[in-house]
Amino acid sequence: MSRWLLTGGAGYIGSHVAVELLASGRDVVIVDDLSTGFAARIADSAAFVEGSVQDTKLLAKVMRERDIDGVVHLAAKKAVGESVERPLYYYRENVDGVLAVLAAMNEAGVNKIVYSSSAAAYGEPAVGEVAEDEPTVPTSPYGETKLIGEWMVRAQAESQRLAGSGLANVSLRYFNVAGAGSDLLGDTSVANLIPMALRATTSDKRPMIFGTDYPTPDGTCIRDYIHVVDLARSHVAAAELCERDSQGQLSELFNVGRGSGSSVREVLAMVSEVLGYDVDPQDVERRQGDPAVLVARTEKIERVLGWKAELDLRDMVQSAWSAWPHAVSLRA
Ligand code: UFG
Repeated sequence: MSRWLLTGGAGYIGSHVAVELLASGRDVVIVDDLSTGFAARIADSAAFVEGSVQDTKLLAKVMRERDIDGVVHLAAKKAVGESVERPLYYYRENVDGVLAVLAAMNEAGVNKIVYSSSAAAYGEPAVGEVAEDEPTVPTSPYGETKLIGEWMVRAQAESQRLAGSGLANVSLRYFNVAGAGSDLLGDTSVANLIPMALRATTSDKRPMIFGTDYPTPDGTCIRDYIHVVDLARSHVAAAELCERDSQGQLSELFNVGRGSGSSVREVLAMVSEVLGYDVDPQDVERRQGDPAVLVARTEKIERVLGWKAELDLRDMVQSAWSAWPHAVSLRA
């Protein structure tokens, strides 16, 4: 049985990744500083070490003492707007985090990494449906730090390859993550469309549509929404791919999305359907920096990883709604 260190395993996405890694028969050791995560979300059968992902010494110690085979590195700050206000904070948290993880891996001789990147790396692409080789021109410090993390992983892998040790690595560019795998694991941050719509409607407000004059069929932005359970499973497939590469030569990058888009209006219509009443969205001004269309091309991940999303928008909205009361209580 292999043992994986998971950074950020107490977070919204990380707790789902922990569940799926454990279900695949792997041992999991979580490192999380609980700055945005919750101890209550840590899977029972995972080991937990409270600490910073920037603490190279601690990470190397955990890797050696627990005999770690590979790392899934998720721990990071992820609010796009906040990253514009506090760029240095984002650079320190996200870039230093990758740096410390890679340095500790090198020190402890761990040679497999799955790195959590983001579709924010693409910025405002010229095409709506992006393949992995589309130019990356991030439009926020958050997107920049995620892209820099990819570069760091690849550069370190190349240097280790030249030195003869190798570093099997997979970067996963997440699209718009939503939903919950259980009522206890919902997204506690209210930073994205579905949680924002749920918060508005549960506080007797109308959800907002940011811009209705985009060049799309209904005038609202189109995104590729991916269920967090599907996303979590892509990490297991990526870990498996790393494990098959005993020489540490693998270096891969995948979009993780459904490969189909939904407009803001369509998402809010689904929210109305699931809640059983019209949430009555209001049209407001565009939000700055939103690309009209951002949808993943998923041929590569389907072909190479054999992974494909199985859950749809209804599953995302239903599970997010079902997990909403517990997420509200965790936030309180
Ligand atoms: N939107 C609204 N009303 C709201 C909230 C959002 O109309 O109350 C719109 C946005 O303008 C956008 C769409 O809904 O068109 C999705 O917005 P989100 O804020 O949910 O997500 P983003 O696409 O802006 O960004 C998300 C993550 C990023 C990630 C990106 C990848 O927050 O971290 O997806 O596609 F990089």
